[in-house]
Amino acid sequence: MSDRVSVRVPATSANLGCLFDCGAIAVSLYLDVHVTPRADREITVRYQGVNPERIPAAADNLIASIIRQRLADWGSRYGFDLEIVNQIPVGAGLGSSAAAIVSALVASHRLAGRALFDEEIVTLASKCEGHPDNVAAAWHGGFTVAMENGGRILSYSSPLPEPLGLALVTPDYALSTAEARKALPESYSRADAVHNLQRAVVLTSQLFSGAADLQRAFFDDRWHQPFRAHLMPGLGEALALRHPDLLGICLSGAGPSILAFTRGDSAVIAGLIQKTLADKQVNSHAHSVGPDNRGAKGWIVPK
Ligand code: HSE
Repeated sequence: MSDRVSVRVPATSANLGCLFDCGAIAVSLYLDVHVTPRADREITVRYQGVNPERIPAAADNLIASIIRQRLADWGSRYGFDLEIVNQIPVGAGLGSSAAAIVSALVASHRLAGRALFDEEIVTLASKCEGHPDNVAAAWHGGFTVAMENGGRILSYSSPLPEPLGLALVTPDYALSTAEARKALPESYSRADAVHNLQRAVVLTSQLFSGAADLQRAFFDDRWHQPFRAHLMPGLGEALALRHPDLLGICLSGAGPSILAFTRGDSAVIAGLIQKTLADKQVNSHAHSVGPDNRGAKGWIVPK
């Protein structure tokens, strides 16, 4: 039987405005998972961390069920004690389910002594999650872009420049990604397609260049934010904020968190976002975060 394995996966903020379903950054809030194999077939789950009321009971726990399924697929049916220590807000647009899926896949591969290949992990994780952006960034870290091709996910990553400030604000209510996806249209006009595509290539080339000479226009979006705004009081007003140190602002993933790229003191920008939400009677929490340029694969320590 295998030894205990520990896995760390960062939170992720997808879309960055124009990069719907294809780009995300990893940020320094973490899901830590420890799995200890048992001699019997019992599975226990212990959860410590944020939003415990949003975490399903042990039997339905996503991480436990993926590990159990993967081990069974490989002919191993032993039980395990699962300990979860989580800093990533749940249902907040910060990749909590992507982190759970990646942690479970990495843990089960390591328990089974299997190698971890980028394309295999990201493709399996994307199948569970339904879209590749968060899982790819959770695995690689930094700024990551991803595409689906014939059922496989190809993904590429670049470290985020450390001096870039991040302001990240999470309202105190949850919103399911499924609900936020239902608000989206089936198709877009050519003008709107070109609008996002132009910004997507410019933003991506800037972030991959390492220079990250950002302008707020790069983050503008016509594909998802305008259609989701009615679900999130204060979002429209927050996206319209102006400040000399505000380099870009967007909905984080499917929301309701809001992400801003800043220079100088990001706490000032976070305060402005919180004030905008408070004006709409929305309480929120500002996280003190930076980029995570390691990703789950960079946090793996030998057993
Ligand atoms: N790209 C996904 C969406 C991210 O916007 O629905 C979900 O976190």
